Amino acid sequence: PTTPPAAVRDEPVDLGAAVSLARLQDPVYRETVVRYFDSITAENEMKARALQPQRGVFSFSSADQLVAFARENGKEVRGHTLFWHGANPSWISNGSFSQAEWAQLIRDHASNVVGHFAGDITSWDVLNEIVAEDGSGLRTDNPWVNGFGGDPLDAIALMFQAAHEADPAARLCINDFSVEFNRPKTEAYYRLVRDLLARGVPIDCVGFQSHLITESEGPGVSDPGGWSPTLGELTGVLQRFADLGVTVQLTEADLKTSPTPGTTEQKLAAHADMARVLAGACQAVQACTELTWWGVNDSQSWLGSGEMTLLFSDTVTDDAFTPKPAYWATRDILGGG
Ligand code: G3I
Repeated sequence: PTTPPAAVRDEPVDLGAAVSLARLQDPVYRETVVRYFDSITAENEMKARALQPQRGVFSFSSADQLVAFARENGKEVRGHTLFWHGANPSWISNGSFSQAEWAQLIRDHASNVVGHFAGDITSWDVLNEIVAEDGSGLRTDNPWVNGFGGDPLDAIALMFQAAHEADPAARLCINDFSVEFNRPKTEAYYRLVRDLLARGVPIDCVGFQSHLITESEGPGVSDPGGWSPTLGELTGVLQRFADLGVTVQLTEADLKTSPTPGTTEQKLAAHADMARVLAGACQAVQACTELTWWGVNDSQSWLGSGEMTLLFSDTVTDDAFTPKPAYWATRDILGGG
């Protein structure tokens, strides 16, 4: 794909990676993050189950070590994620509380967590994956939203308002997957963001997770885990949301290669092409500030042992994992590194 002309931008696009504290103990992994990335996201250490395992008991030590690593190495930090249907402690996922109690729990979680990290987190994924996959409306399995009852937009407004009060400088994001090109879910996502903004909810940022797949079976192959937009499609979607007056970010990029025939070189070239779509679209949209891949090297990926999912192979050269063609293609477009 040809890269559209770079927009005149106030800030460069940060290239980020999801990291885990456990893997950061490996000097090769650590050196790779320090040398090649601008920002980090905690893959799991800032989810509700990790941070508030019991009601009113907050456990920040692991997340604090990640933030300390970022500060020592000049990396920005994305906070992931305050409110999600996943990774909740059982006292939340099985909890039954009154609406007033749920409101207090939402306020307490957001203010304690965002307040604790105030000044250290550039962007927070305040609400993750709330849009129904078929675009029919909102999911009904998020305990924080559905426990609250009543109008789900009221619960969502509470989340963003509490986070904003706790750290007014943090960019507050809503985040979702398989919304990287036009389909009913993307339309529902757009309507939700527009309606929340119209209510004065302090949403600064919209995240597009970008868990993509190669279309090895030809265009239109469907996969609930992800899709693969063209450069034009992704640029168009990002610009449309940006025109609402928000920052846009690609927050969890990876590429699941369906059993594509072909040599490793052909697969790596296809992977680099997808990386150019992600980097090219973010670079072309002035309001796009972040391209984060959901991991560092292929064997880290949540997708299992798939190949070519991330920007680094598992081989090691000069004390870091080896950058793949997709990494260099990304840096060619974004600069930096
Ligand atoms: O740390 C425990 C370990 O002590 C225990 O022995 C082991 C077996 O139970 O589980 C370990 O925790 C696992 C954790 O990853 C750390 O490896 C959890 O079970 C497992 O559910 C968790 O999976 C994460 C998943 O989110 C659910 O939270 C994946 O690593 C993570 O990549 C994935 O990331 C999500 C984003 O947050 C949101 N978008 C989708 C993306 C992919 O699902």
